[in-house]
Amino acid sequence: MNSKRIYIIGNWKCNKNSQEVNTWFHAIGNIKTPHEIVVCPTYIHLIQAKNLINSLKLTLKLGAQDVSPFPNGAYTGEVSASQLKEMVEYLIIGHSERRKNFNESDELLAQKVKQANDQSLKTIFCVPDENTAIPQGVSIVAYEPVWAIGSGKADSPENANTVIEKIKEKYPNVPVIYGGSVTPENIQSYLSEEYIDGVLPGGASLDAIKFAQMVNASNAL
Ligand code: PGA
Repeated sequence: MNSKRIYIIGNWKCNKNSQEVNTWFHAIGNIKTPHEIVVCPTYIHLIQAKNLINSLKLTLKLGAQDVSPFPNGAYTGEVSASQLKEMVEYLIIGHSERRKNFNESDELLAQKVKQANDQSLKTIFCVPDENTAIPQGVSIVAYEPVWAIGSGKADSPENANTVIEKIKEKYPNVPVIYGGSVTPENIQSYLSEEYIDGVLPGGASLDAIKFAQMVNASNAL
């Protein structure tokens, strides 16, 4: 019997229109689980998602996929932590797609974590390996090897466990999860590893049925 608290965090990335968001929340139903289940739509769908969670009485939590490194003010195009706090509990920070496509540096990411912490938002900080800098005060670390993201070639549960063990040696007491081609078929192999506290599925989270299957798989452990 697995007694650890498991995190399943769905990252929708830049996907879905409002009709598809509506369909997903109606399809997911109310899953009973002792674990922490979070879904991260785009900014523009957060209010809709929050309203759907409330009206359908779902136990899901919401997260955003990014946050401004600045507070409120003259920062055109940005969304601040204090604005996001009205809608979400979690923020993903430092996803490899942001590091790569938007040149986000360790320094910038530390500023984002600071903004999140100032607003008492929980942070899911993504790193591609055990050597990448992790700012103080992150809530969850996500180990996501770049080559495993969206490729269908997931890291082996054994290797992911080893990398996560190393991360935990440096950052004790912080839950560490795995991301990269997680599916309903392979999720249990990660969750049953000693040091892995959860998963961050991208592609598989877009399908409500698959997402529900992943949550059910975590319940079965
Ligand atoms: P994937 O994405 O599950 O589609 O590989 C994971 C992620 O980027 O967080």
